[in-house]
Amino acid sequence: MIYFDNAASSWPKPPQVIDAVREALEDSGANPGRSGHRLARKAAGHVYEARKRLARFIGAEKEERVVFTANATEALNTAINGVLKQGDHVVTTVLEHNSMLRPLYLLKKKGVDVSIVSCDASGKIRPDQIEHHIKLNTKLVALTHASNVTGTIQPIAAIAEIARRRGVLLLVDAAQTAGAYPLDVSALGIDMLAMTGHKAFSGPQGTGALYVSPGTALLPLKVGGTGSFSELEQQPEGFPDYLESGTLNGPGLAGLAAALEFLEETGLNEIMEHEQLLLSRLVTMLRNIEGVIVYGHQAGVSHVPVVSFNIHNCDPAEVSFALDRIYDMAVRPGLHCAPLAHKALATYPQGTVRASLSYFNTLVEVDNFIEAIEQITHDL
Ligand SMILES: Cc1ncc(COP(=O)(O)O)c(C=O)c1O
Repeated sequence: MIYFDNAASSWPKPPQVIDAVREALEDSGANPGRSGHRLARKAAGHVYEARKRLARFIGAEKEERVVFTANATEALNTAINGVLKQGDHVVTTVLEHNSMLRPLYLLKKKGVDVSIVSCDASGKIRPDQIEHHIKLNTKLVALTHASNVTGTIQPIAAIAEIARRRGVLLLVDAAQTAGAYPLDVSALGIDMLAMTGHKAFSGPQGTGALYVSPGTALLPLKVGGTGSFSELEQQPEGFPDYLESGTLNGPGLAGLAAALEFLEETGLNEIMEHEQLLLSRLVTMLRNIEGVIVYGHQAGVSHVPVVSFNIHNCDPAEVSFALDRIYDMAVRPGLHCAPLAHKALATYPQGTVRASLSYFNTLVEVDNFIEAIEQITHDL
């Protein structure tokens, strides 16, 4: 199979990741951070390794400020519900995934004011538009680092500067960039960064993380057992325990640690170079097919390796079905959980066909995919 659905979940995983998960299940399946015995210490060691490597990757000064979650959705819910209360105002964008929008819509019903900034035709948010919406009661600017529909990378440095200058917290959804693009929370001044393990990091599903900067105060989304300060009625205040109640996904985090090691050894530059080579060929060749419309991907704008397109007059679901059934190629059709992005791109409600690449894809696969699209364009 040609797998071009890496923005949903990356596949295949590096062999080291599979080995690490198996090893954790077979040899260190105890509870990390609970008991003091050898197996529990080994499990805790995997968790520490993942935390240390993740903190290093995102430039976090203190590794304990990286708290593990089940996915980016849980990280976003923790951040959003942790800082916003009735009477607060939040600025977000049309490019957001439902994992950002739905928690905000829910809070809107509880008296949080939500402003939604639009994007331009390339799928980019203008920083001055964010600033334009900031009011006296604005508590948070919350936006995605890269659109999961067009792949467009947003000008986070400029937006972080505005947030800092206006005294507003900044939450960045790095679900599509963490592992695919350089990130430095300390240099940029990002207050909270939501990540997922199963996309560009090439880690297992069920792993994610939220970075919270040392100055950011938030309430925990859930409280409970942390394996620490068990005599206290209230949640321990020290990180990461403050936001990490309940047994962690030990085998998953062992896999994530191995994925981060693979990323460090391979080098982000090498990964990006390969992905950008494939991406530029894919975009150029799709654009050369008569009847194919590619959304965004204007020259001079940076992208993660995600392309949305449509074949004139064809339902994206039908194209995706044909790719799967006839050509053994996996893509994702529809709205990609980002309905407002499609309204902005005029692709609502049918959505787009999304092809998303990884380091493990090849130029030959891109060429075969283009041949299939040419054929489908001809046949449908
Ligand atoms: C931009 C963006 N945010 C959030 C998510 C949610 O990620 P997860 O499934 O890991 O919760 C996704 C996943 O598709 C995404 O693309």
